[in-house]
Amino acid sequence: MGQFFFKECIIERPPYIRFNLDTKNSGRHLSIEQLVTLIKDQILSDHHFKGCRLPPVRALAHQLGLSKNTIQTAYDELRAQGLVESRDRSGFFVTRGEKPRLFDNPINVPALEFKKISYDEFIRFKDHDAINLSSVFIDPRILPKDKLTACFRSVLKSPGIPEFHDHQGMPALRKKIAARLKNRGIEVDMDHIILTSGSQQALDLVTRALASKVVGTEDPSYHLGKYLLEMNGMKTFGLPIDPFIGIDANIWQKRLAEHRPGLVYLTTSFQNPNGYSYSSLEISSIVNWAKEFNFGILEDDWGAEMLSYSEFKPGLRAMGGSNVLYMNSFTKKVLPSLRLGYIAANEKTIGPLMMAKRVSTIAVPGIIEAALFEFLDRGYYDAHLKYVQKELDIRYQYCLSLLREQMPEEVKWTTPGGGPVLWLELPKRVNLDQLLVKLKAQGVLIQLSKNAFFSEPHSHGFKIGYAFLSKAEMEIAVEKVAQEIRKLMS
Ligand SMILES: Cc1ncc(COP(=O)(O)O)c(C=O)c1O
Repeated sequence: MGQFFFKECIIERPPYIRFNLDTKNSGRHLSIEQLVTLIKDQILSDHHFKGCRLPPVRALAHQLGLSKNTIQTAYDELRAQGLVESRDRSGFFVTRGEKPRLFDNPINVPALEFKKISYDEFIRFKDHDAINLSSVFIDPRILPKDKLTACFRSVLKSPGIPEFHDHQGMPALRKKIAARLKNRGIEVDMDHIILTSGSQQALDLVTRALASKVVGTEDPSYHLGKYLLEMNGMKTFGLPIDPFIGIDANIWQKRLAEHRPGLVYLTTSFQNPNGYSYSSLEISSIVNWAKEFNFGILEDDWGAEMLSYSEFKPGLRAMGGSNVLYMNSFTKKVLPSLRLGYIAANEKTIGPLMMAKRVSTIAVPGIIEAALFEFLDRGYYDAHLKYVQKELDIRYQYCLSLLREQMPEEVKWTTPGGGPVLWLELPKRVNLDQLLVKLKAQGVLIQLSKNAFFSEPHSHGFKIGYAFLSKAEMEIAVEKVAQEIRKLMS
């Protein structure tokens, strides 16, 4: 058999034309005459078919439930009419008039028109030549990779890779999550929990299913959450947060009254980017405004379980009742690549959210759910949280001590008391863009989080992720930041 070129590849057989010959025949056997006519109609209908290969005899016979002889006879008849030619052992081809063009030269159709979106501020998780000072991730060196690997191994041995997925998520894992939430003052039935691909997907599901398109969120807000809302066609508006003071009740009430959102999406603890956590007073005001202005709440509780001594502080769902949708995730705390989160809904909201999940991704990979279940079931998660909380406390305290030692008088920072980040606020005369460039040249990366704000940033600084760096890395980074700030201030 010869060799053919196809789009600059050498292949054994050229591709063949797609024929649908049975459309009018309701599945009954085609006669040879009918076959000849149908094929003839098709190959004469477009000059691009010239030189192209016909379906192999056995393939067409199989598809139409006819004998190979019948197809062969029809092809022979077409050959006798000069419409097709056979080439030794390569099959039948539409008689050549010109070089086959159908598959070789794509017809350039118009490019898709997308919204104006840029893929910006992308920093690699680990840049071996640089210290990433603004990461919200936990240092993978303190994440439980070995224990997780053991869980995956055990799942693969028994019961093995699940054959089918549960659309909602592995029931045993949902049950575990419901029990954990109960210990945090959140009553939720396991049937009202949906496992998601990270909490990012939880936010996606809510916005897909939402009837009202007006959504309020913090300003600054978790920037990929804000982007997601905007890309899903939500009309967003910002509710300003000052990382040192918190919320201004008057401004919030004014904005809520003006925009009348269907949903307000808020991160209760250790917000990204500014590390702020709501006080209980603020939470109670927010749930009261929800009643007054008639909006629903989506609570992003990513920071829960990043508070020292395995403590917790009741958030929006605990104080606002089961209409508050609640989302959380294991990705930051167990392993980023795990991509497993969940949403806790209630009887009214579970249906639309489930449909949103099915149209979006159908299910989370069952193997990941099973391994995480094992991780929780063996008690590894609780043990790991204790360890990670201690480690974060040490890093947090160390970061504070370095800032106290080295930062110039006019620089200030927040003391979130847990979570992965704090906010460093600089005097206005320090040009942040210049600072970023100067630091980058010295191998320290910072994120200015401009895209997390709804307009001109009302804070002048950046986040410091102490959970991501070792003491040694933090020392180098803080020293360089302090030096460069001093230079830019003077
Ligand atoms: C506040 C907040 N919510 C949600 C997410 C999404 O997290 P994941 O999808 O990894 O659970 C992030 C990620 O950084 C975040 O910072």
